[in-house]
Amino acid sequence: MSEKMRTLTEPFKIKMVEPLTVTTEAYRTEALKKAGYNTFLLRSQDVFIDLLTDSGTGAMSDKQWSGIMMGDESYAGARSWEHLERVVKALTGMEYVLPTHQGRAAERILYTILGGPDKLFISNTHFDTTRANIEYTGATAIDIVCAEGKDNEIDLPFKGNIDLEKLEKLLVENARETIGAVIMTVTNNSSGGQPVSMENMKAVRRICDKHGVMMVIDGCRIAENSYFVKHREQAYSDKTYEEIAREMLNLGDAFVMSAKKDGLVNMGGLLTVKDEALSIKCRNLLIISEGFTTYGGLSGRDMEALAIGLGEVFDKDYLHYRIKSTAYLGERLRAKGIPVVWPIGGHAVYIDAKKLYNNIPVEEYPGQALVVDLYLKGGIRSVEVGSVMFGKYDEDGKLIPAANELVRLAIPRRVYTQSHIDYVLDVFDDILELKERKNGYAITYEPPFLRHFTAHFEPLKK
Ligand code: F0G
Repeated sequence: MSEKMRTLTEPFKIKMVEPLTVTTEAYRTEALKKAGYNTFLLRSQDVFIDLLTDSGTGAMSDKQWSGIMMGDESYAGARSWEHLERVVKALTGMEYVLPTHQGRAAERILYTILGGPDKLFISNTHFDTTRANIEYTGATAIDIVCAEGKDNEIDLPFKGNIDLEKLEKLLVENARETIGAVIMTVTNNSSGGQPVSMENMKAVRRICDKHGVMMVIDGCRIAENSYFVKHREQAYSDKTYEEIAREMLNLGDAFVMSAKKDGLVNMGGLLTVKDEALSIKCRNLLIISEGFTTYGGLSGRDMEALAIGLGEVFDKDYLHYRIKSTAYLGERLRAKGIPVVWPIGGHAVYIDAKKLYNNIPVEEYPGQALVVDLYLKGGIRSVEVGSVMFGKYDEDGKLIPAANELVRLAIPRRVYTQSHIDYVLDVFDDILELKERKNGYAITYEPPFLRHFTAHFEPLKK
C-alpha cells in the first residue's frame, strides 16, 4: 500500500477532538501587544497552530489512555513502575533505571554528581538545560559539532555528529580527572535537529574508552534518530528501529531522557546508568528531590503511559509518518523560497531568518520579527533560536549576536493533520510579501537569565 500512497496520510484516526480558536488579525494584534510581542507570553487559546515545542505536546494513543486507568499509584514497588523499568532496561541495556519528572531533573541529578568547578563536559551540542545544569555546578560545557553541522545548507546525512578530531584533542589536552563526561545529544536539537550516525557514536565510545572517560547519551529523540540511521547508514538498513536504538543506547555509560518527546507522554523523564556506585549516588539525590526510586516525580499512571509510549514510538508506520511529515513542511517551505536549515531534521523545521529578512540588522532581531509575523498573519506560534535566545552584551552594552538567527517550527507528535500543515504553508505566502521589511524589534525589558522566556519587545519604525 505504502508504495502507491501519494498523500502522506496519518497512520491513526481521531477519537477525541480539542477545539481550536479561530481569531482575526486585529484580535491577534491586540493579544500580541499585551504579551509584549513575546509569543511565550501569549495565552494558548489565542494560538491557532502551536509549533512552539514538540516537548510534552504530543497526543497519547487509546492504549496509553487505557494504561492511565490501569496505573498503580502505590508509593513503593508499583506495578506500573515494574512495567516501565522492564521496558527501559530492555531498551538501554542498562541495569539501573531511575524515573524523574522530566529531562532536566535527570540532568540535574547526574551533572550535580559528575560536575563541579574545574570539570569539563564535551558534547556534539549541549541543549540549554543541559548546559545550565552543568554550568550551575561551576563546570564548563564545550560544544564541538562537526564542521558540516555549522553549514545550514550543505546536504549531508549526519550533521548532528560530534567532531572526532576535536574530541580526541580535548581529551589529550585535559587530564582524565577533569572530564565530567562526553555527552551525545541524539538527535542534535540545538543544531537543527540533525541526526547522529552509529559510526560516530561507536567512534566516540572507542575514544572515551581510550581515555577512560564517561559517555552519556541524551536520547530524548532516540527513535527519530534511529529512523535516520536505518535509512542513511547502509549497514543498518535491515535492522528494526528498536534494534538500532538498543545498539546505540548500549554504547553509553548513562542515558538521560526527557520522555516528553519520544516517550510520547506529556510529562516524564528517565535516568539510567550502568555503574552501580554511580546509581547509588543518583538514587540518593533522586529521593531528596524527586521522590522514591519507584516513582521519581511521576504518578503510576504516567509511568504506565510512558512504558506503552516507548513501544509505540518505534512502530514503523508511525516513524515513517513522523519524519516524512516534518520533511513535508520543510521541503515545501524551501520550494517556496523560504531559507530553511537543510536537510530537514526529525522534530522541527528551522528557518534562517537573517537570510529571509535580510534587510533587518541582527541588532533588531530578524528572528523575533518572523516569530511575530507568523503569529499576526496566521496565529502560528514558533520560537526564535537566535540572538534573543543566545545573544550576550559586551562591556559597552553592545549586542554580541548568536551564530545564527533561526526560527524553529517544532512539530508536536500525532497532533496536527496535513491540512493544518498546509495552512502553515499558506501563511508563508503572506510572509514572503513581507520579505523586504526593514524594521525589527527592540528589547524593552529583559531578565538577567534565559531572557527569551519573559523579555518584552517593541516594534521599531523607520
Ligand atoms: N535535552 C534535550 C535534547 C532537549 O531537547 C530537552 C528539552 C531537554 C534535554 C530537557 O528536557 O524539557 O523534559 O526538562 N527540550 C524542549 C524543546 C524544551 O523545546 O526543545 P525537559
